[in-house]
Amino acid sequence: MRKVDLSMILPDMRLGKSIYHYNQLLLTAGINNISRFSDSLLKLGITSIYVEDEISTDIEITDAISDVTRLKCKDALQNAINRFRVQGSFDMCSISEATSSLIDEILLRPDVLICLNDIATTDDSTLVHSINTTVFSLLIGQQLKLSPIELKALAEGTILHDIGKTLVDPKILYKNGILNTDEFEIVKQHTIAGYELLKTNPLLTELSRIISLQHHERLDGSGYPYGLTANEIHPFAKIVAIADMFDALTAERCYRKSLTNYQAYQILAHESTIKLDAPLLGQFLKNIAIYPNGTLVNLSDGSRGIIKIQNPGLPFNPIVMVLNTIDDKDVRLYDLDLSSTFNITIQDSNT
Ligand SMILES: [Fe+2]
Repeated sequence: MRKVDLSMILPDMRLGKSIYHYNQLLLTAGINNISRFSDSLLKLGITSIYVEDEISTDIEITDAISDVTRLKCKDALQNAINRFRVQGSFDMCSISEATSSLIDEILLRPDVLICLNDIATTDDSTLVHSINTTVFSLLIGQQLKLSPIELKALAEGTILHDIGKTLVDPKILYKNGILNTDEFEIVKQHTIAGYELLKTNPLLTELSRIISLQHHERLDGSGYPYGLTANEIHPFAKIVAIADMFDALTAERCYRKSLTNYQAYQILAHESTIKLDAPLLGQFLKNIAIYPNGTLVNLSDGSRGIIKIQNPGLPFNPIVMVLNTIDDKDVRLYDLDLSSTFNITIQDSNT
């Protein structure tokens, strides 16, 4: 299986991973001739999908969490948002159940570099973002050996970190273009609004609530809402700042082309010199597949290939299936393990 831009879909490709819109199944994995759905998918804000074709048959794409848990989380979060809009309160039981499932899966995951493979539509991108950010935060929390109680607080606070956005005018929140100063000031208020909203639920601890308030603060004081500096920012908010930013950079939304994991890595690495917590970022990057399985890459020796298998602890040195083009068709040549090939490196990637 591999991820392919919709514009590159060929007739012999099958859908590799089912596509959901909220919790509705849109297209089931295995469907042939998927190019006929390209226009409909584009209208939903989907720009790339997972496919299976001849050269990707033995490339496995493993997700950090199961579809069942992902759907459970989306459902719980959507219900919490809906209920808050109608009743001004929300149900923590389903959020608590959903985050427990997330924690269980993260703690049980095999020791491999992870990537998240959910295809978000424009409409459910907020839900997908909140869940992805929670998974990334838990990965850091796991590395830090947080206690079960701390992991639970981190998960609950992260999945609800942007709940304050339900109070922001959707016209501003989803504006297609750059926000003016007044609009940005309004968006910034989602942090304080979220914190106040979460205070109304006695089942949430301050440890969870502080994430909503501080996840846009930056170590150099350039963040918001209060411009706090390094020691003033809670460690949980520093974790979520990294997770939130990585997912925002790599997400495909609103017809915006996402950055590759490597491009996001470069930005985060740069930001960690002044804005993000460098040791926490180091913990995070150790666990992320910088070049996810199925990614097309160009190598420094002029050859090209598809990422086939990750080498744990070596995100820049996966095993690559090297390709050749014969009669306009890609054919497999051999597998190249970049962890033991010191003179060949990845030059660039397309996803
Ligand atoms: Fe936010």
